[in-house]
Amino acid sequence: MQDNRIRFTLNGQPMALPAGTIATRTLLDWLREDAWLTGTKEGCAEGDCGACTVVLEDGARREPINACLATLGQMHGRAIRTVEGIGRAVAEALADADGTQCGFCTPGIVMSAWAWTREGGDAHEALAGNLCRCTGYRPILEAMGRMQDDGVRADAVAPAPASFATPEQVFHLPATLAEAVALKRALPDAWLLAGGTDLGLRFSEHRENPPAVIALLNMSELRGLRVDGTGIRIGAAEPYSALHEACAGDADFAPLAPYLARLGSRQIRAMGTVGGNLGTASPIGDALPILLALDAVVETSARELPVADFLLDYRRNALAADEIIAAIRLPRPAPGALLVAEKLSRRHDQDISAVAMVARVEFAGGVVSRARIAFGGMAATTRRATGAEGALIGRALTRETAREAAAALDFAPLSDWRGSAEWRMTAARGLVERLWLRHAHPKMPADVFAVPA
Ligand SMILES: Cc1cc2nc3c(=O)[nH]c(=O)nc-3n(C[C@H](O)[C@H](O)[C@H](O)COP(=O)(O)OP(=O)(O)OC[C@H]3O[C@@H](n4cnc5c(N)ncnc54)[C@H](O)[C@@H]3O)c2cc1C
Ligand code: FES
Ligand code: FES
Repeated sequence: MQDNRIRFTLNGQPMALPAGTIATRTLLDWLREDAWLTGTKEGCAEGDCGACTVVLEDGARREPINACLATLGQMHGRAIRTVEGIGRAVAEALADADGTQCGFCTPGIVMSAWAWTREGGDAHEALAGNLCRCTGYRPILEAMGRMQDDGVRADAVAPAPASFATPEQVFHLPATLAEAVALKRALPDAWLLAGGTDLGLRFSEHRENPPAVIALLNMSELRGLRVDGTGIRIGAAEPYSALHEACAGDADFAPLAPYLARLGSRQIRAMGTVGGNLGTASPIGDALPILLALDAVVETSARELPVADFLLDYRRNALAADEIIAAIRLPRPAPGALLVAEKLSRRHDQDISAVAMVARVEFAGGVVSRARIAFGGMAATTRRATGAEGALIGRALTRETAREAAAALDFAPLSDWRGSAEWRMTAARGLVERLWLRHAHPKMPADVFAVPA
């Protein structure tokens, strides 16, 4: 049955928003202005500072998200927890450790820390999406060391297909891909919305309310992730957090995990999707070098195509007006392949790449039999360095051959505030040269940090 009211669970209580609620209103605005839950703060309104962090709950899972980027329509069927709904223990642990000073960031940090008490992982990485200008983080990390999972949980409700209509806007949450395609044909100007970590800025910062939205989050064809002998297949609307987890747990894809851990923050990875990265087709989309290096296949509502044919030009992809990305297949690298993923950005955490490289080098009889070296940030679109790849084929991967491959890089990058053209070329050559080091020293730490000159 079609639902026409936005429903979700908030702090354990079922909610139904009044008919006529604008579905692209941000969760943050609604929490603060209608629900009077003003613990959740607005700092940047663009997903960077984490002051607006709330947690999506689904059974045992807790995923922090940025309420400033999330729309009410996307929350339909979800369970949301705000700082008002978790008791005092986490906040008191922070206060006891002097982990709060002016306090503006504190509710967001409380929510990230609360999610971390369940999800675990590296505490620094769990805070990468929360900016604190006062404490220097040491006391916050100390406080986190003393926090425990409180056992609280709430379940997301399996969402029914829904449409929320007001005189200004219609917001559809179709249940099947066929329905979504039919809607897109009927409403050619409708915005396709997945995680909203790109489009969310238009709702949050630019205060745009598009007349029609088709949200892609509730279609089973676009959700789920499967790992098998052939590789990974990820639904286009499945968040990055699932891909990160799958890569971290699979030896062949594990070199991608530290790179994915630097794609945005936990908040961004809980909502953002590979489908959205392909949809935006930005030259600095971090998923795209992965897809090119692995010869990924893009499955759409109409066809399958290699990712190399999908990315056409600056922010331009091969999608027809009524075509929707359904899933992405990442083939498993051949046994013994070298897989390297490097991201260079001005800031280590929560920053956009200045230069990103993902390389897959396969060997036969001690020489390179196949090389894929894909760069972001070096051209108008993410693209392979075919000159460098060619320089490696049929040869052993040594310092000398890697240097020759680096010298064969065929890019003419731009200068911008993330790095000059000269710096970009030097950095890219350095990354290609380092391939031999990665090959010779497979235990070398995967994470890299460099500041452009
Ligand atoms: C604070 C912050 C940090 C970020 N950091 C990074 C980073 O480090 N690296 C990086 O690469 N990106 C980063 N991003 C950008 C963003 O997270 C990614 O581009 C993400 O992949 C977008 O996915 P989404 O699901 O949120 O897309 P959405 O915003 O929902 O959509 C983006 C575009 O893709 C289209 N689209 C989405 N899904 C489909 C589909 N299935 N079929 C057809 N079209 C579709 C939409 O219509 C829209 O045009 C960051 C964003 C923010 C706000
Ligand atoms: S207000 Fe800064 S991330 Fe949302
Ligand atoms: S305590 Fe002031 S910003 Fe964190």
